[in-house]
Amino acid sequence: MQIEIQRNADVSLSKQIYQSIVDRIRSGLLQEGLQLPSVRILSKQLGVSLVTAVKAYQQLEQDGFITSVQGKGTFVKVKRKAVEERKEEIFSYDWQLSVQDYLPRSQFGRFHLVPEKINLSSSMVDPGLLPNRYLEREIHQMLSENPRILSQYGEIQGDTHLRKEMAEYLKSSGVPSTPENILVTSGSQQGIDLVARTFVGPGDVVVMEAPTYPGAIDVFRGRGATILTVPVDKDGMRIDILQNLCDKHKPKIIYTIPTFHNPTGAVMTLKRRRQILDIAQSIQSLIIEDDPWNEIYFGKKPPAPIKSIDHNGHVIYLRGLSKTLAPGCRIGILSASGSVFNRLLAAKANTDLGSPLLTQKSILPFINSKRMMDHHKKLRTALRIRRDLVLELLSQHMPDGVSWVIPEGGLNLWISLPSWLDGNHVLIEAKKQQLTFLPGSACYPVEQENHHLRVSYSYMNEQLLHQGVTTLCNILHSQITSKTVHDCSPYF
Ligand SMILES: Cc1ncc(COP(=O)(O)O)c(C=O)c1O
Repeated sequence: MQIEIQRNADVSLSKQIYQSIVDRIRSGLLQEGLQLPSVRILSKQLGVSLVTAVKAYQQLEQDGFITSVQGKGTFVKVKRKAVEERKEEIFSYDWQLSVQDYLPRSQFGRFHLVPEKINLSSSMVDPGLLPNRYLEREIHQMLSENPRILSQYGEIQGDTHLRKEMAEYLKSSGVPSTPENILVTSGSQQGIDLVARTFVGPGDVVVMEAPTYPGAIDVFRGRGATILTVPVDKDGMRIDILQNLCDKHKPKIIYTIPTFHNPTGAVMTLKRRRQILDIAQSIQSLIIEDDPWNEIYFGKKPPAPIKSIDHNGHVIYLRGLSKTLAPGCRIGILSASGSVFNRLLAAKANTDLGSPLLTQKSILPFINSKRMMDHHKKLRTALRIRRDLVLELLSQHMPDGVSWVIPEGGLNLWISLPSWLDGNHVLIEAKKQQLTFLPGSACYPVEQENHHLRVSYSYMNEQLLHQGVTTLCNILHSQITSKTVHDCSPYF
């Protein structure tokens, strides 16, 4: 079992082992009833003292994640019933787990498999609001005119015409771009991964906001990075804390979502955008500016991206098109410059030899068209209506002690519970009522805070959104008023 340990982190080794095993249990990678390695084997595998391994297992057992059976070993706890009563469900240690992997916590993948009827978990736009029919027609037409498109490799850097259009498009939002410094990626998730596999190795320091986008945490963890975190307030990443961290640790990468931050919705002020760039310049670091919902604003336009004031190539700018156009096309745009760009291009070649030509060509007529402008406008209006609906329901039905941040754009709303209430436990209750959301704990790279929830208001239609938010309020109401201490089952 591969557990990533950061020896120079502030968090104790036993706590890191604990968290890693919890993540694996929650993600379903370690299934109920599975036998875990003995403390002796674990301490050997990880190169930690026996006392450290014992401490981690004791805490896991105390918190109800695992159970020890005398003379048999330690098992991932089976839900509710005692292990002894469910012998048939106990699996011996899976030999495949001794094949070392470099996967980070994988709970994010789990949250994307959402079978519940009311999905407030996925940060995605309702398919009914996206131009599916238009793209369908484009694909048909393109294939009937040029079926050979399926039998060709495209350019590794991305289709030239698409890069030209995207350069124009990015310029219109203040990001100076040319077709030569644009790389078409398979979603911005791949952009993050390309930067990580190119520039981050074991022990390299990466700074992230806390909370942040869980999919990025997984990528940096997978590279063995030492992740340090900076809290976010209503004006974005706390620059005073970032400055201190950077003075001490000189990170290689600073990952930020300055505009409608995922999950809190905060917008980084222009002043802080300048400051973060100054800091990166002073320590020769790279900034990943992840900007998927720049077009989804409900009031005034957000400040121009950090990339717009970057004259020395510190910012690697990512603009995914999944949130506004077509997640199924898997297209993202990366803009960078100089030798940083060249190395990312080499990484792209190693990874997949270029993104699919079919989807690049299909979206081409859309970019910069009047249809695109109208579509963005329509999207802003529709999503604003959904956000307002949620805000209204929250203010009507949410019990005292729960607070939330009003997002001025993007797809997510960040809710904070009383500190004694664990979002993972609320989720267990919600799932019984066919409702799901993202527990805030998934958004913390290092020390998890459990008393937050991320609710996405963009995926469900208004009727289901109404039903889902009312259900959530009712669950919280009954949990807060009864202040029940739950059967602390860790499963969801
Ligand atoms: C902040 C952020 N970055 C990147 C991604 C990945 O998006 P995609 O790869 O579909 O462009 C997401 C998806 O939710 C996201 O929220």
